[in-house]
Order: sequence, then C-alpha cells, then structure tokens
Amino acid sequence: MAIERTFSIIKPDATRRNLTGAINKKIEETGLHIVAQKRLHLTTDQAQKFYEVHKERPFYNDLVTFMTSGPVVVQVLEGENAVATYRDVMGATDPANADAGTIRAEYAEGIEANSVHGSDSQDNAEIEVDFFFSDIELVG
Ligand code: CMP
Repeated sequence: MAIERTFSIIKPDATRRNLTGAINKKIEETGLHIVAQKRLHLTTDQAQKFYEVHKERPFYNDLVTFMTSGPVVVQVLEGENAVATYRDVMGATDPANADAGTIRAEYAEGIEANSVHGSDSQDNAEIEVDFFFSDIELVG
C-alpha cells in the first residue's frame, strides 16, 4: 500500500476544549504518524484563501469567522493511504451522521464546529500541506 501524506486542522472548537491530545491519540491509534504540527491563529486572509473553494456557499462567511475565532493546530499526517485513513477516523462532516468512535462523533459540536479538517484527495493534500508548511523540510 502507498505511503501518503495528508493535511489536518484541529479546529478552534477543539483547541478551546483542550482536545488536541485526545484527537492526536485517535490519529496515532490509526497508525498514522504526525510528522509536523504547529498551533497558530489563522488570519481572516488565510482562512478565506484556505476555504476559497467554498466561497459561494451560504456558510462561507460564518466558516471564516469560526476558523479565526481561536487557535488551530495544523498538521501533516503520514502513513498508508493517509488521506482515506484520516477521513475514516474523522467521520462524516455532520457529526449527526458520523460513525461511533470517530473524532467527529465523539467531539464535534455541530456541522460547522466539527473539530477537525482533513484533505479530501492526494492533490489537495499536497496543496494544503504547502499552504502551511512550505517553509520547513518534512521528516517522515
Ligand atoms: P471541512 O472539512 O473543514 O470543510 C469545509 C467546512 O465547512 C466543513 O469542514 C465544516 O466545518 C463547514 N461546513 C460544511 N458544511 C456546512 C454547513 N452545511 N453549514 C455550516 N458549515 C458547514
């Protein structure tokens, strides 16, 4: 199986409730390795650019406000089929539809404050990793 990298954000609703360690434990239990992470406060400009694909959606402005409402932890995860593996453990976008045991089923507050983001494809993973980690050399 292919070793891949994917990009993750632990969102403000989760950092506010001190859930970074609990979420990292769930990630590591899948076998994925957290090969880079940093905690930062997104600027409005960064959040708007990161979620530009959703610009025309009715929830876009609220999403940008939410994502800049507190610190986030941005991460690079590495392992077998990292994109799909991380999406499995995140669970569905809406926690009401997330399988038991997933991060969103256990921790998300709602469809917007859903605790984590993960890339939806290998191509987007590369773009999103580059968005936040272009300045450092990643060590697997
Ligand atoms: P994420 O995986 O980061 O990708 C886009 C985000 O938009 C999503 O997680 C949610 O936080 C948010 N989102 C998606 N759908 C909705 C919705 N219907 N209402 C509000 N927020 C949403």
